[in-house]
Amino acid sequence: MTSKYNAEAFDYDTISEAAELIKKGQLVAFPTETVYGLGANAFDSNAVARIFEAKGRPTFDPLIVHIADVDSLWLVAKEANEKARKCMEKFWPGPFTAILPKKETISDLVTSGLDTVGVRVPDHRTAQKLLLEAGTPVAAPSANLFSHTSPTEAWVVREMLGDRIEGIVDDGPCQVGVESTIVSFCEEPPVLYRAGGIPVEEIEALIGPIRIAGATGEEKKAPGRTLRHYAPRTPMYLYKKREDLPENARVGLLKMAVTEEESGSFDEVKDLSESGNLREAAMNLYSSMRALDGKELDYIIAEQVLNEDLGRAINDRLRRAAEDGFLRIDE
Ligand code: TXA
Ligand code: MG
Repeated sequence: MTSKYNAEAFDYDTISEAAELIKKGQLVAFPTETVYGLGANAFDSNAVARIFEAKGRPTFDPLIVHIADVDSLWLVAKEANEKARKCMEKFWPGPFTAILPKKETISDLVTSGLDTVGVRVPDHRTAQKLLLEAGTPVAAPSANLFSHTSPTEAWVVREMLGDRIEGIVDDGPCQVGVESTIVSFCEEPPVLYRAGGIPVEEIEALIGPIRIAGATGEEKKAPGRTLRHYAPRTPMYLYKKREDLPENARVGLLKMAVTEEESGSFDEVKDLSESGNLREAAMNLYSSMRALDGKELDYIIAEQVLNEDLGRAINDRLRRAAEDGFLRIDE
């Protein structure tokens, strides 16, 4: 494996090597501004098939295709309506995925047989350079084993997938920390499939109302909307309190702006942002969940944040990770 786990950040040689691997049909994990992706040439069905194999991911869950710039969109998508264009212009490069009618040349494996494709331009120097050098759109899910949390640091990828893939490009921790916002422009009004790094409020300010796909009911059967997802191994609860759990249990706390009193009543505490900053909280979410998961706790209690701006993405991920995440839906 060409692992550059210890490489200095932004090493051109490493990126060129990784691009060669992609061209050869191999699998390379690389950083984006959201989370690390596990990439393969989107036109190479064998390579794409290996992504599903490496992750243990069901093939009915389609992959996002990453492109270097908006000019490459036509390699991937057949058309983009005006709302889609506006969003792409404003939010690319960035944590925004547009679902558009797909080009026939994109492998059915990428889209799980759907006639639509998810596409985005990542806002990350290493990802950009890799895409340019590989000279091809790159299909990439988050670089984790199926149903685990997305990696925001290279060492996590190495631990989960190191012996299954050909390369890992390390460029430090991801700055956004939650995955891209996914909007389908194949329906009118457009539909939010996943809250993410671009707040819904910003999208609506630009193109008017979008429909928010429900987390329950019919829409949970839509691709990628498996309710329990992004989960730590330790049972995590949103609606339990410390006193609801056995007194001798080891319990961790995950929230923003932890108070001294809270600190004292838990065995381990991760503060997502001491100052209550949603951006910082998003960036720290997965690494904090993972850190608590490694502390041999019996339970984790997590607290949701304000359900606006990046808070929607944070709450969505917390609900999917929690045992009781869908007992109550407040929106
Ligand atoms: O930020 C991100 O989006 C990261 C980085 C690596 O780009 N990628 C990521 O990919 O989160 P993944 O595979 O873990 O999640 C992609 C989601 C899946 O839930 C999938 O169902 C949905 O996107 N998706 C992809 N193509 C779709 C399509 N044509 N229609 C509906 N959903 C789609
Ligand atoms: Mg994922």
